[in-house]
Parts: sequence; C-alpha cells; structure tokens
Amino acid sequence: MSNILSRLFSVKRSGMNRVFCVLGIKIKIPMNTTCYLPDTKMLRDNNIEFPHPIGIVIAKSAKLGKNCVIYQNVTIGAKSREKANEGEFPTIGDNVIIYAGACVVGGITVGNNVQIGANSVVTKDVPDNCVVAGNPARIIKML
Ligand SMILES: CC(C)(COP(=O)(O)OP(=O)(O)OC[C@H]1O[C@@H](n2cnc3c(N)ncnc32)[C@H](O)[C@@H]1OP(=O)(O)O)[C@@H](O)C(=O)NCCC(=O)NCCS
Repeated sequence: MSNILSRLFSVKRSGMNRVFCVLGIKIKIPMNTTCYLPDTKMLRDNNIEFPHPIGIVIAKSAKLGKNCVIYQNVTIGAKSREKANEGEFPTIGDNVIIYAGACVVGGITVGNNVQIGANSVVTKDVPDNCVVAGNPARIIKML
C-alpha cells in the first residue's frame, strides 16, 4: 500500500530540479535556492544575463544598469552589516561584465562598459571603459 502511495505522491531531487509526483503526474520545478536575487524585476527589466546562475547574491538595494552579465559566485552588496543598515550599496552601470567569484561591495559606483576580473574585490569607484582585477581591484586595462 505504501509502495503504491509513494509512486503516486513523491518529491525527488533530479539535478537542478525538484520533481513532484502527484497522482502519477510528474512536475519538474527548477530549484533556485542557490542564488539570492530579491529584485528580480530590476534584473529582468535591465536584461541582466546569468550564464551560470549558481551562488550569486545581489542585494535588493544594489542597482544594475542595462545588459550586464553576472557570472557564478558573484556578490554585490554592502561592505558590512552596519553599512547595509545605512543603505550603502553599489550602483553599477550599463554593459558591465562581472566574472566568476567577484565581490563588489559598498556604496560605490561602477561605470559603463567595465569588466571585473574573476575573484576581484571591488571596494572603490570604477570609471567607464576599463578592466579591473585583483584584491583590492585595480585598473589593469582601459578599453
Ligand atoms: C579580467 C580578465 C577579463 C582580464 O583578461 P585580459 O584582458 O586578457 O587580461 P590579461 O590576461 O592580459 O591580464 C592583464 C594582467 O592582469 C592580471 N589579471 C588578469 N585577471 C586577473 C584577475 N582576475 N585577478 C588578478 N589579476 C588578474 C594578469 O595576471 C596580468 O597581470 P600582469 O600584467 O602582471 O601579467 C580575465 O583575466 C578574467 O578574470 N576573466 C574571468 C574569466 C571567468 O570568470 N570565466 C568564467 C567562465 S565560466
């Protein structure tokens, strides 16, 4: 009896999906528990691309411009809990690519057409048209 019931009603994990079985009908729902993206409207409206959406945190008060690309394990947030309470979050321009593992923190401004290298920690303003990298991030190229 319990065997029949478990065939009719079950919840299983399959890769990046959770598969609910209700009366034998399987419904696949992607799990999005690995990213914290509270302002989905801003991200959708600004055409933000997430090639590998794993481990990404973008604070609700952070602002992104149009057509940015955010790779895996990127954090965009406040410098500390205290600064979060004071509302200090990054403002990022248009066409910014933030590569894997970078942290962009504080009430800073990142310009347009900027690339932020893998694992960089960006804590200061970044001008337009450049590549920054390292911890602390520095300009390595003008575009
Ligand atoms: C930032 C990046 C785009 C720059 O690429 P690039 O313009 O070809 O830069 P270069 O390789 O010519 O590097 C220029 C200098 O910056 C350094 N540098 C480049 N990327 C760096 C990084 N992420 N952190 C620290 N230093 C970096 C290089 O070592 C080099 O230093 P040197 O002049 O002392 O030798 C690239 O290095 C990078 O980080 N790409 C991320 C890739 C990624 O996340 N892919 C995920 C795919 S899933």
